[in-house]
Amino acid sequence: MIPISCPLIGDKEKQLVMQVLDSGMLAQGPVTARLEERFASVCGVEFAVATSSGTSALHIALLANGIGKGDEVITTPFTFIASVNSILFVGAKPVFVDVDEETFNINVALIEEAITPQTKAILPVHLYGYPCDMDAIMDIARRHNLIVIEDSAQAIGAEYNGKRVGSFGIGCFSLYATKNIMSGEGGMITTNDGELARRCRMIRNHGMERRYYHDMLGYNYRMTDLHAAIGLGQIERLDEFTAKRRANAAYLNARLKSVITPKVRPGYGHVWHQYTVRVREACQRDDAVKRLGDAGIGTGIFYPVTANKQAHLIEMGFNVAKMPVAEQLANKVISLPIHPGLEQADLAAIVAEVNKL
Ligand SMILES: Cc1ncc(COP(=O)(O)O)c(C=O)c1O
Repeated sequence: MIPISCPLIGDKEKQLVMQVLDSGMLAQGPVTARLEERFASVCGVEFAVATSSGTSALHIALLANGIGKGDEVITTPFTFIASVNSILFVGAKPVFVDVDEETFNINVALIEEAITPQTKAILPVHLYGYPCDMDAIMDIARRHNLIVIEDSAQAIGAEYNGKRVGSFGIGCFSLYATKNIMSGEGGMITTNDGELARRCRMIRNHGMERRYYHDMLGYNYRMTDLHAAIGLGQIERLDEFTAKRRANAAYLNARLKSVITPKVRPGYGHVWHQYTVRVREACQRDDAVKRLGDAGIGTGIFYPVTANKQAHLIEMGFNVAKMPVAEQLANKVISLPIHPGLEQADLAAIVAEVNKL
């Protein structure tokens, strides 16, 4: 079976993990600090704050910006549920704006009509590693005095007009095991605002700056040095991994005929966390997934149910608006293997089997 994702762990990661084990200092410490420094530099920002996951990064970013009960946060319904759950964690209301059919990302033309006096933030998601239209989003945010929290969980290294995602607003990244670079579990917040970074660090560690003096309510959302060691090895390989993903995507885009392939607009530096095609009719998808599976091609459906249709959001009364584009995409998308571990024969097999559909 050609897997849909496959972490590539080299000698460097193993060596760094062994050094941490030998040091006896396994919890958050100097290795996490080194990873934060590298991460900030890769994203082109001044500060990076490591966290236990992408979910905790989002939760902290919302808390550090004072978003809570009575506030509304505009986001996409076509995302992993963590983008939306983090808004629920702080007691705010997620307000969904439908997506663009070609980019899978929030449709910026629909954002302004969703803004109310309660709106505090926009939380766009760079889905599959494809950056959102950040000029339009930052312009809306400036005019309406809104915070922008970029869910960049799937998009480390992605660029919009030459600038890295996570450097426009506050960036939240995931280093979960299947991401383009990973630490097993882990996350990162990026910002140019030193005071915001300080608050994030406090919330990450029980509201402490001085040991056992708690100046605010916080959590244990720390990254361990063991995880940071894996991330530190991985981040040195980001450019190599991204180049391979881009080459794999170009190969598939040039050859796949039986499905609708993803298009990349000029100025958008896609990092292909997922390579996601669409079947022409929703009724074709189950059959396509089964035939590909039988032929040894792993697939993923990201995501089969939009956030507004998830049981807990319906129960909380947050599925008020129909999201026609996102809801039909949820029935038509199939992600194919694109990871840097693919060999030429794997790519040829994917093309041959998909084109038989
Ligand atoms: C778009 C998106 N947001 C947030 C997250 C949450 O990240 P984590 O799994 O590290 O908590 C993920 C991870 O899968 C994601 O894909």
